[in-house]
Amino acid sequence: MPAAGSAAGSGTAEWYRHFGTVDAPGSSPCYADWSLHVADDPGLIARIDEWPYNKRQPLLMLAAARFLGAQVSPYPEFRTFLDEHWDAVSRTVLSRATQTNEVGRCATLLPSLAAIAAAEGRPLALIEVGASAGLALFPDRYSYEYDDGSSVARLGPVPFGELPEPPVLRCRTAGPVPLPDSLPEVVWRAGIDLNPLDVRNPDDVAWLEALIWPEQEFRRERLRRAIAVAREDPPLLVAGDLNEQLPALAGQAPADAALVVFHSAVMGYLSADGRARFRTAMQALAQDRGCHWLSNEGETVIIQQDGSAVVPEMDPSRLRGNFLLLHNGGPVAITGPHGQSLDWL
Ligand SMILES: C[S@@+](CC[C@H](N)C(=O)[O-])C[C@H]1O[C@@H](n2cnc3c(N)ncnc32)[C@H](O)[C@@H]1O
Repeated sequence: MPAAGSAAGSGTAEWYRHFGTVDAPGSSPCYADWSLHVADDPGLIARIDEWPYNKRQPLLMLAAARFLGAQVSPYPEFRTFLDEHWDAVSRTVLSRATQTNEVGRCATLLPSLAAIAAAEGRPLALIEVGASAGLALFPDRYSYEYDDGSSVARLGPVPFGELPEPPVLRCRTAGPVPLPDSLPEVVWRAGIDLNPLDVRNPDDVAWLEALIWPEQEFRRERLRRAIAVAREDPPLLVAGDLNEQLPALAGQAPADAALVVFHSAVMGYLSADGRARFRTAMQALAQDRGCHWLSNEGETVIIQQDGSAVVPEMDPSRLRGNFLLLHNGGPVAITGPHGQSLDWL
């Protein structure tokens, strides 16, 4: 990602080139191809540079185009699509944000949530900060398959009535992952987001689907299933900044449940001050009501108690491209960014 305020044009082209060579290959050949062509297309880069800095990011522009109907195609067709729909692409980019709600991350959070419920001897009350549509607030309603390379452990909710088929979240494990025998009970769930997405709103659902990269049909399928589960009982989602909203929302959680505040892929959106404020709020919640804190974030924004950015004792190459899961500030696992792997420390 280029430095904010870099000279118009040059930084944006580099951003697309980086996305096309580092981020997209392996996940989306189509996005890799489109991004590299965009990087070499000065006319298009000049138009993208008319947007505010944080709106120029490749994933946002590509998702906006797909939201409006761009199909997987050779670049010249995509370029024609952009020319024909540029006003709508601009409007979508300016009004939307990258709010990918990756339900697969529940697989990497579940063992910690179950361990907290077991240690506390109480059901859970969950608050997710930066919740998007709140799909990660239903870890008790999804199915899981944990594969350690020699066997697969399966877990899931007890089938009940006419409930929708849950998504199956598949996760490779390594190390002594404390897999539970059953799903923890969740008695209350709520989230905070600057812009909560509504699983009952077709436009929001279409945007969530557009945020998934074109070739990743298995992620789209589990997203659809998770949305069907969430629609049965939509979560309480509060609009606003997580630092502003957290104390009051935590006050609403039932006192007899074990409160867990968690987040994934959110801290990168906060300034260093915002992250420090959040740490202080979490310390207060831990003291005042024994709240647990699960942080599942990328290597550059990992939160430690002293405020530094990486775990000093850990070889940084283990974290590259992965997330680190922390429980109350202590590292417990390296996780795949979409929940595809859980490497217990
Ligand atoms: C990449 S999405 C991740 C969503 C979800 N945590 C997940 O793992 O699927 C990041 C979310 O954080 C939200 N967000 C960013 N900054 C925030 C803030 N200061 N307060 C509340 N939400 C915020 C964004 O609106 C977005 O929905």
